[in-house]
Amino acid sequence: MSDDGVNKGRRRFLTAATTVVGGAGAVGIAVPFVKSWNPSAKAKAAGAPVKYNVSKLEPGQMVTVEWRGKPVYVVRRSEEALENLEKVVPQLRDPESEESIQPGYVDPSYRSIKPHLLVLVGLCTHLGCAPMYRPEVGAADLGGADWQGGFFCPCHGSKYDMAGRVYTGVPAPTNLDVPPYSYETDDVIVIGVDQEGSA
Ligand code: FES
Repeated sequence: MSDDGVNKGRRRFLTAATTVVGGAGAVGIAVPFVKSWNPSAKAKAAGAPVKYNVSKLEPGQMVTVEWRGKPVYVVRRSEEALENLEKVVPQLRDPESEESIQPGYVDPSYRSIKPHLLVLVGLCTHLGCAPMYRPEVGAADLGGADWQGGFFCPCHGSKYDMAGRVYTGVPAPTNLDVPPYSYETDDVIVIGVDQEGSA
C-alpha cells in the first residue's frame, strides 16, 4: 500500500505542475492580443521613414542605416567606381534592372537618383543574407582583374557590382532592391519617402 502513497503524491505534484504551466500559457496568449490594441511607439516607428545626412560620407565609404528592420546601404561612389559600371555589363544578369525592384525615378543602370550616391536594401535576393561591401578593384578572392568592386554575399557566393546589379552564374536571381527614397535637401536623404514628382 505504500506504493499507492507514492503514486498519489506524484499525481498531486503533476496536477500542480500542469496548473502552473496552463496559467503561464494563458498569460502568454494574452500579451500579443493586448499589444495589438495598443501598438507601442517603437512599433509605429518601425514603419516610419528614416533620414540620413550624407555630407560626411567620403568617396568609397558605405554606412548601414536601419529602415523597417532592414539594413539599407548608403554608399558614396567614387568617380572610378562610376566609370567601372560600364565595364562589368557583359557579366551581369539584369544590367538595366528590368526584372529587379527599384523605383521608377531611379536611373536603371546607375540605380540611384544622383549618380554618386547609391542607396540599396542590404539583403541578398537569394535567401536574404547581408552582402559584404567589397569595393577593392581586382580583389584576388573575387575574380582578380575581373572584379570592379561591389558586394559579395558570404552565404552562397552571390556577387553584385557597385550598383547592386547581380552577376550571372550566382544563386541570386535579381539585383539588390533599391528602396523608395528622396532628397529633403542636397545632403539629407529620406528612406521610405518617394522622390517628389515621381510617377
Ligand atoms: S543568401 Fe546570398 S547567395 Fe544565398
